[in-house]
Amino acid sequence: MAKMHSYMRAMVFLTGILFLMYFGLHPMTEMYGGEKSVPLEYQDVILINTSKCHLTGRRQPGVYSLSIELIDRLRCRKPQLLVAESRPGGNFLMPRQISMDFLCQYWLLTAVDVRLNRYLHEGHFHLRPEANIGIPIGTGRQIVRTQCWNNLNESKYHDVHFFFPPPDSDLTSKSDSETEGGSKKLSVMVLGIDSISQMSFLRHFPYVNAHLNTLPHTKLFGYSRVGTDAYANLLPLLSGMNTDELALDGGEESFKTAFDKELGVLRPLWESYKEAGYRTAYGEDNAQSFASRIDKWLLSKTVLDLDLRPVMLEMDQHTRYSIDIREVLHCSAGRPFQEVLRDFIGKLVPHLQKHPFFSFFWESQGVQDYYELTGTLDVPYLMILKRLEEADVLNRTLVLLMSDHGLRKGTYRLSPQGMQEESEPLLVAIYPEWLERKYPKAIANLRSNTRRMVTPYDLHATLEDVLDPDLLQDAHIKDRMEELRSSSQKNMPRGISLFLPIPDDRTCDQAGISSLFCVCRNLTALPTDDGLVVRSSRFLVRSINSLISSQAKCREQKLHKVLQAHFVNFGEDSFIFELKLRIKTFPGNGVFEATVRLSNELILTSPINRITPYLGNSYCVSDPYIKTMCFCLN
Ligand SMILES: *[C@@H]1O[C@H](CO)[C@@H](O)[C@H](O)[C@H]1NC(C)=O
Ligand SMILES: *[C@@H]1O[C@H](CO)[C@@H](O)[C@H](O)[C@H]1NC(C)=O
Ligand SMILES: *[C@@H]1O[C@H](CO)[C@@H](O)[C@H](O)[C@H]1NC(C)=O
Ligand SMILES: *[C@@H]1O[C@H](CO)[C@@H](O)[C@H](O)[C@H]1NC(C)=O
Repeated sequence: MAKMHSYMRAMVFLTGILFLMYFGLHPMTEMYGGEKSVPLEYQDVILINTSKCHLTGRRQPGVYSLSIELIDRLRCRKPQLLVAESRPGGNFLMPRQISMDFLCQYWLLTAVDVRLNRYLHEGHFHLRPEANIGIPIGTGRQIVRTQCWNNLNESKYHDVHFFFPPPDSDLTSKSDSETEGGSKKLSVMVLGIDSISQMSFLRHFPYVNAHLNTLPHTKLFGYSRVGTDAYANLLPLLSGMNTDELALDGGEESFKTAFDKELGVLRPLWESYKEAGYRTAYGEDNAQSFASRIDKWLLSKTVLDLDLRPVMLEMDQHTRYSIDIREVLHCSAGRPFQEVLRDFIGKLVPHLQKHPFFSFFWESQGVQDYYELTGTLDVPYLMILKRLEEADVLNRTLVLLMSDHGLRKGTYRLSPQGMQEESEPLLVAIYPEWLERKYPKAIANLRSNTRRMVTPYDLHATLEDVLDPDLLQDAHIKDRMEELRSSSQKNMPRGISLFLPIPDDRTCDQAGISSLFCVCRNLTALPTDDGLVVRSSRFLVRSINSLISSQAKCREQKLHKVLQAHFVNFGEDSFIFELKLRIKTFPGNGVFEATVRLSNELILTSPINRITPYLGNSYCVSDPYIKTMCFCLN
């Protein structure tokens, strides 16, 4: 009975769609039609060009509003009295622009684990205006926090420094690395910036784009996200699995058992690379972002060889201050957190020159919150690439210059263009010239994937290939291509190495991209007061409420308004009926997007994506996903 009922509803709904089409409401994709003979900056860019999907991006940005503060002019306002310097004789804190007497105290930390919550050593020193000799701190890898007071006992300086001296003078580093064998290992570097879409990269990074033309590289325009946030997109890259499969929410134990049963041994890339004789490095410009969430299973098992996290944690606890109203741009003394990350990358260069490395860097401060911040990153990233090139690091490294998704919040995201760009993150692969000479077929395949639909799962498969370069030999590639060609659609792996040709007829389902993030399905706008749309929207709100119900501290959400509804077209011969909804709820005025599938019952087929900021309203919850939906009771 109930079955019949919903069937009829779906029919009524579909009749409604025919009606709409009859009156000439066109699918949204048509709005991005190709314009010819117009100046370059107005021409569209073809992002995906396959038999199943044509997707273009606009060079012109959509509508956005700037923040009230002049974000790109904000500077750290405290002085930088000391800088860290490693010399052959050891580590020194060098005074800069000292104008009066200071008494300073310093605390020395182990460079490995700041969570031990104790200091190895502490001491005092004086700083005087005429001082220009450094204060010796010790040798090898060190982290040191320093605070200085003036004659009136006012704290005038508080900062954290770190020393990662070059391998030769780094006494704490083992010297077993010279036995790595004669074969050249290809290093891997993930150079990530949060919230940069493919189109935003073309618009805001003119210098990097121009410089790329001098380097062997492939832009993967069809790179798609598979989850809402950085975590949900980087986890598949690092592990080959998504957050649901890893079921991390049930705690580490439940995750372990689920994992052991079905999938064998968990092998995050860090571990695999470490086992293969690589060194590992990790750096983020943030203490509370991605690392803190993967920590419990990805990072604790592998000791990273070079890790910026203890430095960021110490800064976060003791010396951090904000320079913007929203308090997302942080400084320590005279340096923004972003610069600390870049300084770290710079200090690693001598290490990267010497050993094969798997390194992972992620920059996120402010990029996701301020539209105008993106443009300020062009020059710093040009400098990083040039530094790596000049140091001959680029010619031994596969660099993935990438992002996790486009802008996720703010006015820009509310436009149709912003919605599309959110699901099209940046991905550029930069590789040494010799790689192409050594593995011509593999690199030709990589190039041929430039306008195919690719995902973080593919990146995982790609980076597993790098571990076993034998697989990249022409003969092997040929066999693997044959195998791929003869696989049935059912047996097609979800993640396919980018050194193989991604099938032309790949669909979002095959690639593991849920409807909400699939940019290849046509959307047809529906009236927001349609009965089924309203019913599905109520269902979406119920889903939010059941998710937040585990947290007694959140207020129940009610549907305030249906802002947008689209019918998702799965193709003519499909029996899947799905709606993409954008709703506003109260209290909190959150705007959410999700897809709801209509079958015998309503099913939520995507994560619930909040596209407006939630600011301080969800202070009472720590789970990052629930946080986006919770409006705290008081
Ligand atoms: C798109 O694909 C078609 C068919 O493979 C090809 O003929 C065309 O040149 C491609 N266009 C671009 C811009 O790559
Ligand atoms: C400086 O101030 C701190 C408290 O802020 C106090 O504990 C300390 O004794 C003072 N030192 C001197 C030399 O007055
Ligand atoms: C990188 O380039 C430098 C100089 O161009 C060369 O000496 C070095 O051997 C190259 N390294 C590799 C791994 O090809
Ligand atoms: C989407 O719309 C375009 C243009 O209207 C059409 O060519 C294409 O076949 C449609 N795709 C699907 C999956 O229906």
